[in-house]
Amino acid sequence: MTPEVRANPYPLYAELRRRAVCQVEPGGMWAVSRYDDVVTVLKDSRRFSSEGLGQSFRPPWLERNPTADSLVMKDPPDHTRLRAMVSRAFNGATLNRLEPSIRAIAEELAEAAVRRQEVDFVAEFALPLPARVLNLFFGLEPAMALRLKHWADDLVSIPASQPSPQRQEEIRHSLQEMERCFHSLIEQRRAHPGDDVVSELLRGESLTQEELLSFLFGLVPAGVETTVYLLANTMVVLSEHPRELERVRENPALIPRLVEEVLRYEPPGQSSLRLTTEDVVLSGVTIPRGSLVVALVGAAMRDESRFPQADRFLLERESQSTLAFGHGPHYCLGAMLARMEARLGLEALFSRIRGFSLQREDLDWSQSIIARGPRALPLRLEPVR
Ligand code: HEM
Repeated sequence: MTPEVRANPYPLYAELRRRAVCQVEPGGMWAVSRYDDVVTVLKDSRRFSSEGLGQSFRPPWLERNPTADSLVMKDPPDHTRLRAMVSRAFNGATLNRLEPSIRAIAEELAEAAVRRQEVDFVAEFALPLPARVLNLFFGLEPAMALRLKHWADDLVSIPASQPSPQRQEEIRHSLQEMERCFHSLIEQRRAHPGDDVVSELLRGESLTQEELLSFLFGLVPAGVETTVYLLANTMVVLSEHPRELERVRENPALIPRLVEEVLRYEPPGQSSLRLTTEDVVLSGVTIPRGSLVVALVGAAMRDESRFPQADRFLLERESQSTLAFGHGPHYCLGAMLARMEARLGLEALFSRIRGFSLQREDLDWSQSIIARGPRALPLRLEPVR
């Protein structure tokens, strides 16, 4: 968690891959960093459990937090049953229906950013895009998009450290506000179903009220923070590879490839946490039962045995085998949506700029072991004539 590692974790990851499996700070958790080992951890929910991770979202100062019971913190058989029920809200038809609205949001944000030229790319583009898309997905009033971002920040800050009494109060307030908002949304959709995610989840064999609430709570951090960093990391990577920007501007059909390579080279989700349910031997090292394991996806995707020239950013890379959206039972339900948001956002932006420059080199990177991206990204955009 040191500033140097936050700014560039990749040399440390290389060292960790040499040692395969070892204990690291904070707290002596077990770091797994080679591609094959990370796949083993993510695939095997019997020995590497997600249940119990919810505890960190339920600290003693917080009486209630439905996020602690969200899908990503469950194991089979509960996870399997819930996932089968919620998956239908993420089908291709939903995405096709959302595409024109997402494109319109992307164009509006790109137009405004390019007009201003000097922007904080995170605050003015990367963040409002997924916040407004999630808002649309929920079918909430447009004005709620900013609240979603605020809630996402509050939720992800819960496991970190002991917050001040004032901060605890703010977080409690956000959780109560979220609960009121989602309760009222559920009631409205029960009475007047529409074509949004909540109406879809209320149809047919449905979840209990509490399961639905936890699922919606879980979508707030899952749907916002990661996509913000995917967009922001793309611009950071392109600032270091200006020739690649020219190539995607000349040929926008390369944008999906660009997104995939950013997901590998600078993944917004750097790791996933698990708890061992028994002693497990991985790469010859025994991880004792009850240990906290950090599966370092960011390290796995720089593993030379899987990705030749792993430290190079190469648009022509063919075999991706990406772990950026996880692997196995918890594979990201929003992966197609996130890819679509990134594609439409970057298409809208790149068609309006000739180039851009980073206004400062020493970026303030997220202080999270899971999500990686700059908290602010001052850019100067050069509009096309
Ligand atoms: C670039 C953007 C995104 C990235 C990098 C990302 C990454 C991930 C990863 C790595 C996981 C697995 C976590 C684990 O195994 O512990 C995950 C799960 C999940 N993601 Fe995403 N995600 C993104 C966007 C989204 C969006 C836009 C949504 C929904 C609106 C979403 C919804 C979910 C859900 C519901 C799960 C839990 C699936 C389960 O536990 O079965 N994600 N995501």
